[in-house]
Amino acid sequence: MADLLDSFERAARWIDAYYRDPGAYPVLSRSQPGDLTRALPTHAPEEGESFETIFSDFESLVIPGITHWNHPRFFAYFSISATPIAVIAEALAATLDVNAMLWRTSPAATELEEVVVGWLRELLGLDAGLHGIVYDTASTSGFTALAAARESLGLDIRERGIAGRDDLPTLRVYITDHTHSHIEKAAIALGVGRRNVVRVAVDETYAMRADALESALREDISRGMRPMCVAATVGTTSTTSSDPVPQIAEICKRYATWLHVDAAYAGPAAILPEFAHLLDGCERADSVVVNPHKWLFVPIDLSVLYVRDMPLLRRTFSLVADYLVTPEVGVRNYMDYGLQLGRRFRALKLWFAMRHLGVRGMRMRLRSHIDLAQTFAAWVRTEPGWDVVAPHPLSVVCFRFAGDDDVNAAIVDAVNASGDVFLSTTKLDGKLAIRLAIGNERTTEADVARAWELLRAAAATTARSPVPRGAN
Ligand SMILES: Cc1ncc(COP(=O)(O)O)c(C=O)c1O
Repeated sequence: MADLLDSFERAARWIDAYYRDPGAYPVLSRSQPGDLTRALPTHAPEEGESFETIFSDFESLVIPGITHWNHPRFFAYFSISATPIAVIAEALAATLDVNAMLWRTSPAATELEEVVVGWLRELLGLDAGLHGIVYDTASTSGFTALAAARESLGLDIRERGIAGRDDLPTLRVYITDHTHSHIEKAAIALGVGRRNVVRVAVDETYAMRADALESALREDISRGMRPMCVAATVGTTSTTSSDPVPQIAEICKRYATWLHVDAAYAGPAAILPEFAHLLDGCERADSVVVNPHKWLFVPIDLSVLYVRDMPLLRRTFSLVADYLVTPEVGVRNYMDYGLQLGRRFRALKLWFAMRHLGVRGMRMRLRSHIDLAQTFAAWVRTEPGWDVVAPHPLSVVCFRFAGDDDVNAAIVDAVNASGDVFLSTTKLDGKLAIRLAIGNERTTEADVARAWELLRAAAATTARSPVPRGAN
């Protein structure tokens, strides 16, 4: 046991040093494809190896291939960061190694999950009629919601499937060009088919047009098709635009269509009283997803799906093998509410994070991210040659430098090659936009200023000697 303690101490010291200065590493890994593969043996070791040997390879071989999401100047995708205390909860959950599939296979795992998703629901101002369940990702949550939406149609698909049936209407799912791709993937997996994923027009703020949604529903119904789900987004991936959920909810009610709200990224901002309106309309949604691993300082992965009709969700997925029948009544067996049987004890890290930061700490961090994004947008807006190209209500700013896509791509490539700042891009109205996303609890104004400094320097260089995309 002394050896085990030594190993834990060694790892704990490494983690402590890492968290003290993740900015000491290049934010974007400098690995080339195949670097790690070539450095590792092609076969598993015949004999066990010491912790020292393994840990030393972790440091020398694995770490260089890590892109540091903890780096304070990680501004790509949805920048995320976990509060370190929640990482201890991950280690404890792994130590306990429980499978929280049934209430009896760890009553505390089930009940803690019920408690924390209840705390979160209250903080988000969500309706008490919505019941939370923890999954790994918003993609799984979205798939689960769409499966329930399909079951809600009463077409007996659970029993009879869809193949070879001529009594089934064509099922339709409604999104926009800005909806995250997991909804379309769910439509593929559930037999709806990509062709039946309807892309509703957006307005100039990239939000779904309620009138266009209503026209699409009306037209589809008149053609004998069956709307299965409208997926509205609060905080789209590219720009953080939000679809008008209250109006969409009204339309969904009128056309008896399931409303799923994807608030994976922006949902957490609703714990701020000044952003509580973001989840307006969700009191009429059938399902809502929020990802604490995106913007509530919980280590990936942890997504919470709130569903109104839990018995329906249970009917969608429950299959209880003889060896899983248990005598307890009035308990929730979470294996009945999704695809997977085995479940990690994810609620533990959400509980640690919420308790350690407190509501005040979480709000403070979210406000700081939003403020930093607004500061950055103001710098861009007032600099000649630069433009902010989308509304930026939260912690993401989309912008461009004068010139074509190649110029902007070259600027981003140059900044990312610095190893000091990591940015991503998207396309808006067919044009490349640079995207700066703030979500790391270590990011300060000096970090954002450094990104701006590198961007302007890269723009000046690119303007002097334009580099075609792919040439550097
Ligand atoms: C709006 C939105 N929804 C869903 C997802 C998918 O999240 P996950 O990685 O948890 O599946 C993303 C990913 O960034 C997203 O931006």
